[in-house]
Amino acid sequence: MQERLSEIKNQAKDDLAKAGSIEEVETIKTRYLGRKGGVINEIIKAIPSLPSEQRSSTGKSANILKNEIGRWIEEKKGGFDTSAEASLTLPSFDVSQPGEHKPYGHKHPLTQTIDEIKGIFKKLCFDIEYGPEVEHEYYNFDALNIPADHPSREDFDTFYLGNKRLLRSQTSTVQIRVMEKKKPPIRMIAPGKVFRPDTVDARHASMFHQIEGLMVDEGVSFSDLKYVLTLFAQSYFGQDIKMRFRPSFFPFTEPSAEIDISCSLCKGKGCSVCSQSGWVEVLGAGMVDPNVFNAVGYDPEKYTGFAFGMGVERLTMLKYGIDNIRLFFENDLRFLSQF
Ligand code: DAH
Repeated sequence: MQERLSEIKNQAKDDLAKAGSIEEVETIKTRYLGRKGGVINEIIKAIPSLPSEQRSSTGKSANILKNEIGRWIEEKKGGFDTSAEASLTLPSFDVSQPGEHKPYGHKHPLTQTIDEIKGIFKKLCFDIEYGPEVEHEYYNFDALNIPADHPSREDFDTFYLGNKRLLRSQTSTVQIRVMEKKKPPIRMIAPGKVFRPDTVDARHASMFHQIEGLMVDEGVSFSDLKYVLTLFAQSYFGQDIKMRFRPSFFPFTEPSAEIDISCSLCKGKGCSVCSQSGWVEVLGAGMVDPNVFNAVGYDPEKYTGFAFGMGVERLTMLKYGIDNIRLFFENDLRFLSQF
């Protein structure tokens, strides 16, 4: 009988080795371990008819073999496991192949400029403030001392949404919102998007970015304005940049100035970007108009301040020699990946 058992063992081993699917393994299981007619069970059933000295050893061996075949069957089945978990753990790809390279993204050049300018003003202890892009006419015009008949209020200069709402056309709005909430001293810049229905060309887009600045305290003077803006221009464009303050007019500042820098592309010699003049306008600025202080409840006799506004696209174009504003918004990676 022991011989018969070892024959069965070898046969079961062979059969399992040849099995090519889970179904075949199941058939083998029934053949050897099945309750009715299974090869091992037939042996166990035959034990009582054996000579008494063989019964116990045969029973033991038959049980050992039964467990052994059971274990082989489970192992073999594991090899065919098709559950989701099994297919995840089994490598279905060639691990020796080089990996798929996913290029790193990076910040948009305009975001880089905004971050750089934020860094410069943070060193001067200016706070960074934000305001809504959908604004009320009051913040975009009235509180900024912009009269009802001012051309910037025309439909062709501002996107109106109805009900005195509009897409803000300047970030000067944030000055008012901050002064309404805080008492002086104030030192802030406000970066953000602004919107104007301009015809799109190489220098104009209907959405662009501005950074507004404001400093209010007792005794703030025009020389503080000059100092801060000179420091800013030198940090952003380099120490050898030259600045020129030209008298100008803005409703919310008095006196007002437009500020040019020596053209960073031709170093002041004259080129197409600076229209051969050697200078490019980069900023509007001035001393805060007393009417603006009245609108926010500050005493214009006690406080003075300066404000300025600059265009982020223009500053970026000048620094890197970019000649078309549309490049910022076309999402062309050949352009963006250069920054
Ligand atoms: N808001 C002005 C514009 O969009 C820019 C500006 C000019 C802001 C002078 C200022 C300022 O704060 O003092 O053209």
